Amino acid sequence: MSTILEVKGLGVAFGGVRAVDGVSFDVREGSITGLIGPNGAGKTTVFDIATGFTRPQHGEVRFRGRRIDGLPPHVIARRGIGRTFQVIRLMPRLDATNNLLVAQRDQVGERIAGALFGDWRRQEAENRRTAQGILERVDLTHRKDVAAGSLSYGQQKLIEIGRTLSLDVDLILLDEPMAGVNPAMRGQILDLIHRLNEEHGKTFIIIEHDIQMIMGHSDDVIVLDHGKEIAQGPPQDIQNDPRVIEAYLGVGHDEEGKP
Ligand SMILES: Nc1ncnc2c1ncn2[C@@H]1O[C@H](COP(=O)(O)OP(=O)(O)OP(=O)(O)O)[C@@H](O)[C@H]1O
Ligand SMILES: [Mg+2]
Repeated sequence: MSTILEVKGLGVAFGGVRAVDGVSFDVREGSITGLIGPNGAGKTTVFDIATGFTRPQHGEVRFRGRRIDGLPPHVIARRGIGRTFQVIRLMPRLDATNNLLVAQRDQVGERIAGALFGDWRRQEAENRRTAQGILERVDLTHRKDVAAGSLSYGQQKLIEIGRTLSLDVDLILLDEPMAGVNPAMRGQILDLIHRLNEEHGKTFIIIEHDIQMIMGHSDDVIVLDHGKEIAQGPPQDIQNDPRVIEAYLGVGHDEEGKP
């Protein structure tokens, strides 16, 4: 499998805090990769750098071999990386359909020229068809006219994932998609991730505090602690890695991982 995202020697500090401190990892195309670590480990900051919201002070990020670090978010999105946010960023008064349409319009700056020459209606009709298709894919057609703020938290998370689909990206970064979501809806989100992965070839990096979920559903796992990457590999290796156990439990372990 080829590498879709390559992170090398990444570093950024905020004031005196080294949020990300020399992090390197590769993400395989077509994989579901878990990104875990205790609070404040630097997980969200890695996403912020990979999607252009934060400029790194050290290192580089390559997407399909091309440097993307330091590029603005809309350019990175157009290259093929989408994301959701730890704190939901939907427009609460707009319905589900319009939240998806806004995501598409965010990306069509260059098409405004076309709009001026009368393409607007055709483009709008196409965007609506795309939005309907996405609502079907995330199984929310029955809620399409409901204001996003009135949807359940889990449904809002589904719309956020849907927003990434409206940009037709290849790599989707999900920042805690299961946090605060009830068990039934968690199942629905997981099904969606697997369907998009298996049937549509999307690659995922998922930040989650639910370690069982990550271990059960990821092909690879990367572990951060205090801004440093302390382990990466298949879930079964990560589960038994003494450094990982120590980071989570805060206790020392010997070579065999025993306390
Ligand atoms: N914009 C910022 N300004 C100042 N400090 C920041 C900023 N963003 C992150 N930090 C700090 O950088 C460190 C890493 O934060 P980050 O949000 O990446 O952690 P995280 O692993 O996502 O944690 P959590 O699991 O709690 O979401 C923390 O100490 C945080 O307080
Ligand atoms: Mg975070």
